[in-house]
Amino acid sequence: MPVPFPSLHPTPAHTDADAAASADSVIQGDRLTLENRMDSANHAAAAAGQDVITGLTQPHKALPPKYFYDAHGSELFEQITELPEYYLTRTERQILATDAGAIADIVGPCDLIELGSGSASKTRLLFNAYQQRGLPLRYVPVDVSGTMLETSAQALLTEYDQLTVHGLVSTYDQALQNLPPTDYPRRLIAFIGSTLGNLAPAPEQRFFQQVSQALASGDYFLLGVDLHKDTATLEAAYNDQQGISAAFNLNMLKHLNWRFDGNFDLTQFRHVAFYNEGDRQVEMYIESLTAQTITLQALNLTVEFAQGERLFSEISRKFDTEVLTQELLAFDLAVRHIFTDDQRQFALLLCQKQSSDAP
Ligand code: AVJ
Repeated sequence: MPVPFPSLHPTPAHTDADAAASADSVIQGDRLTLENRMDSANHAAAAAGQDVITGLTQPHKALPPKYFYDAHGSELFEQITELPEYYLTRTERQILATDAGAIADIVGPCDLIELGSGSASKTRLLFNAYQQRGLPLRYVPVDVSGTMLETSAQALLTEYDQLTVHGLVSTYDQALQNLPPTDYPRRLIAFIGSTLGNLAPAPEQRFFQQVSQALASGDYFLLGVDLHKDTATLEAAYNDQQGISAAFNLNMLKHLNWRFDGNFDLTQFRHVAFYNEGDRQVEMYIESLTAQTITLQALNLTVEFAQGERLFSEISRKFDTEVLTQELLAFDLAVRHIFTDDQRQFALLLCQKQSSDAP
């Protein structure tokens, strides 16, 4: 059965049928609460595939990056994070290993709301820092996959005996519009992994607006972003030797075949990724090797590809900390600290919400 997608993020998409039952159902345990915010509207929207129809019928074909993340796509992404060329994940982890303590000292006891929690492998470094300092924390992971949330929450509760978890089975939009009430002095919204890079400038601005609105003055926002750098390093990260990036990109077609009863032949397409330095973004495309006609039965859709025609599958923007600092400030998010690695490849920006009349 088709299931909903988040507005953005890497989670196996068809493992959460359990979450489909009803909105606002709550499973309450001693240290674990799971709250289901998904409703039939989410499911209906995802099943309709309207975004696929729109994307494939416009003059410059494009698909939303959420279609990367079926179960196999999520597995391929995990493999990407371990590639020698893909420095992003390991660099961010290294920054957190060094600086999680400083973050805990600044933020103090809090509700840690993580957008796109996945297995929370990097977030554990924050939990460790809180635990070492004897600081209390409630973890509020937000994910569209109920199965994913429950599995990772159970593991965390065993590892951290002081931790409480309130999971939200939800899209980011829904979660930010209505965060669960908290007893802690501060909220900390975490959006790490450079998922922000998937957003074009306009949706990025809307996202910052939502984050800002969700926070009270004095609350924090932790943002992990990949930084602008030389083209060779960036292009290698998205065109690895082993071909995992290519498999990840082309898997999108396999996912569409499965989800919408399509007949894409993966051998008739190739992966293309390059750095558009002017726009400071890696662009990923799926290029048709021949002139061909594809049908997606479930959508009643027939699509023609010319030889060499490219389907736009992802942008991965690369940031400049100064520019980003100015943009965040426009939403009353004041950057308090920038944590980075020796080579300045990746950055974690710790921002604090200020009242709009602050100097
Ligand atoms: C998960 C969005 C951070 O942009 O680097 C990896 C996704 N795409 N290789 C990124 C991705 C191709 C990744 N993000």
